[in-house]
Amino acid sequence: MADTNDKRVDQPTGTEFVGHEWDGIEELNTPLPRWWLWTFYATVIWGVVYVVLYPAWPLIEKGTEGVLGWSSRGELAEEMALADLARQSVYEQIAATDIEKLPASPELMQQAIAGGSAAFKVNCVQCHGAAAAGFEEYGYPNLNDDDWIWGGTLSDIEYTLVHGIRWEGSNQTRVNYMPAFEGILSDQELDSVVDHVLSLSGNGQSSAAGAELYTNNCSSCHQPAGEGSQLMGSPALNDAIWLYGDDRALIRQQILNPKHGVMPGWGERLDPVTIKMLAAYVHSRGGGEAPAETAPEEDNPESIATMADASDAPAVEGDDQP
Ligand code: HEC
Ligand code: HEC
Repeated sequence: MADTNDKRVDQPTGTEFVGHEWDGIEELNTPLPRWWLWTFYATVIWGVVYVVLYPAWPLIEKGTEGVLGWSSRGELAEEMALADLARQSVYEQIAATDIEKLPASPELMQQAIAGGSAAFKVNCVQCHGAAAAGFEEYGYPNLNDDDWIWGGTLSDIEYTLVHGIRWEGSNQTRVNYMPAFEGILSDQELDSVVDHVLSLSGNGQSSAAGAELYTNNCSSCHQPAGEGSQLMGSPALNDAIWLYGDDRALIRQQILNPKHGVMPGWGERLDPVTIKMLAAYVHSRGGGEAPAETAPEEDNPESIATMADASDAPAVEGDDQP
């Protein structure tokens, strides 16, 4: 060990020795590099400033708060408020847009479809299925096809959703009761009218008797060639899409004792924007109709209400039957 008071100088560098020596290796008293020193001071200053401005030291009850009053919770709240504002403005925009005009702003339509898809999962899947494909034979229609019982424009669908179908909770509900032909048509007549119904979609042959029975009892609602009527909510019989199934026995059952499927109205349970979004979603499922394709009177709820009244006295022409 060298003497600690020794102020000897290292000859090649001119730097003082610190005075320690281990096995002939001695330490020089080299000053710290300037850049290092300034960085060090800067971090100290930064640390002090940070402690003053922001929450820093944990104390017993809570930490020091800092003069800025910043908190991570506050920051989160601010971000959430911004997100809320964005959502709210989408809601407000949808609320303020006429439903038929929604497709004109694709971004808003997209938002509406997304919102509708979420609401569909909560309110509609139990009857219409997760993919909106419905359940034939139970009378829950497929919403993916372009076959509409009550109309497939955005406003038609919106109306169906608000008021429901044969729904007691709304006096403007879509309604049309197919009369029960039990006791009105004989067994034989029933057979020939079933033949006629099947023939409308190209299955098998009808007979003159079947055609006449159909004209007298069915065509007022289902139309002469079975094209159906959206205004009345009479399903088309001339296509391969069935509400209750194309089986002879099921058709016979429907004629004897119609099911009168009920769809609840949502006008009182869901807000108008959610209903609009649901209509946009259902419309987007592939089969939505453009408004121009439908008859103008369909926009008028009055005519549907009138139909509802008319259907109280169903158009059965039982008198014509023996
Ligand atoms: C309790 C079962 C039930 C629930 C829940 C239900 N529906 Fe329906 N829906 C029906 C039935 C049954 C019909 C067919 C009624 C008929 O015979 O005309 C129908 C018909 C419809 C139609 C008319 C289809 C057409 O061809 O005109 C639309 C649109 C529709 N539903 C959408 C919805 C949406 C959207 C929801 C969720 C908000 C929903 N439904 C929830 C039973 C249901
Ligand atoms: C007052 C109008 C009206 C008359 C008249 C009427 N129907 Fe209907 N029909 C309907 C409605 C509405 C439905 C919808 C189903 C329901 O009852 O929920 C329907 C459904 C049907 C279905 C089921 C369609 C499917 O997609 O599964 C068949 C089949 C049918 N009718 C046949 C007939 C036949 C045959 C006659 C005559 C003997 C007749 N209907 C007379 C209104 C009528």
